[in-house]
Amino acid sequence: MEKIRVGIVGHGFMGHEHEKMLSGMEEYQIIGISDIDPKQLEDVPEGIKRYTSDEELFADPEIDVVLIVANNNQHHDLVIQAAKAGKDIICEKPVAMNVAELDDMVRVTDECGVKFTVHHQRRLDLDFRTMKAVYDAGSLGDVYTVKSSLYGFNGNMHDWHVFVSEGGGMLFDWGVHLLDQMLWMMPGAKITSVFADVRNVINTEVDDYFKILMRFDNGVTGEVELGTYFLTDKISEKWFERHWIMGGNKGTAYLDGFDPQGKIVRTSHLLTNVRGTRTMTAAGPTRSFGPPAEGTILTEDLPKATTKHEDYFKNYYKAYHGEEEFLVKIPETRRVLALMEAVRESAKTGTSIPFEK
Ligand SMILES: NC(=O)c1ccc[n+]([C@@H]2O[C@H](COP(=O)([O-])OP(=O)(O)OC[C@H]3O[C@@H](n4cnc5c(N)ncnc54)[C@H](O)[C@@H]3O)[C@@H](O)[C@H]2O)c1
Repeated sequence: MEKIRVGIVGHGFMGHEHEKMLSGMEEYQIIGISDIDPKQLEDVPEGIKRYTSDEELFADPEIDVVLIVANNNQHHDLVIQAAKAGKDIICEKPVAMNVAELDDMVRVTDECGVKFTVHHQRRLDLDFRTMKAVYDAGSLGDVYTVKSSLYGFNGNMHDWHVFVSEGGGMLFDWGVHLLDQMLWMMPGAKITSVFADVRNVINTEVDDYFKILMRFDNGVTGEVELGTYFLTDKISEKWFERHWIMGGNKGTAYLDGFDPQGKIVRTSHLLTNVRGTRTMTAAGPTRSFGPPAEGTILTEDLPKATTKHEDYFKNYYKAYHGEEEFLVKIPETRRVLALMEAVRESAKTGTSIPFEK
């Protein structure tokens, strides 16, 4: 098998992840790694070249594809330099700081005739793929709501992610994944309007909380919520919670965790009007919110997803050789950036913003 020869630009947290992943795949050979901080190159494994300047890496004729894994504010310039050196490019998310930057990058990659895509491997996450399979199967009937949430319970934000100038903030860091998943789940649906709340709860410069509501023209309201300062004392062993809920008129699907646990839940017959049974609660008697009559709630297992992050690079290899389409297409990433701009506008003005209509 002819290997794709890769150069990695940026050997921090994610650069190391890519190094490990690609080193274990027969389709790839890592030729070299660059970083502006020489300390980050100290643990580059033997047999892989180290470059203290990106220019050296871009000029290396042994490299076919560069993987841009530097801070978000570096992506624009690095992609353009790589394209001008004739390299094909995979760029980390968020591909750019805004739509204008991306358009500039696309102009240059097109002029240089190089392949350009983005590392959105969270399209392969098991929790997301499970919910997408539920949506695609149509078994919940008319879906009216899809909620995707992620909460961190320790208040952590780290390194350059707390600086605006570096492309920090949770909207850029995780929002880009959560929005990309929501849009890619329902690729044919247009967003008619967006309402968002984006906050700097404890960070002075960058957002660490957001709630985003998107009205789609297929009848779904998509909701994405994330907070890094959502404290709780109910921790068992993990310091985050990941949840999905999808509601349709023929059932509900819920899912918890990246290692997905959940069910599809239905009622044995439609319960639009049943004889009220009085249940006493601490807040007084209730009929609507009491327990269901025995046998009315039915559960089904969620579909089983089997995707893994490695599949991103398996697809890349085939697409590189014209055997498949790239999993991530640049117009899709542009749509997410445009949506994030509408999100910020909505949060600033406190109004809902028309989008794609
Ligand atoms: N897809 C994912 O799941 C995922 C996860 C984490 C990070 N990322 C992305 O990866 C990128 C890097 O994030 P990270 O968490 O690894 O950050 P990091 O700070 O751990 O690493 C970034 C590295 O890039 C280096 N660097 C900065 N500018 C450079 C330049 N011009 N040339 C060469 N090296 C440069 C830094 O010295 C550092 O070693 C970001 O775009 C981030 O959004 C993606």
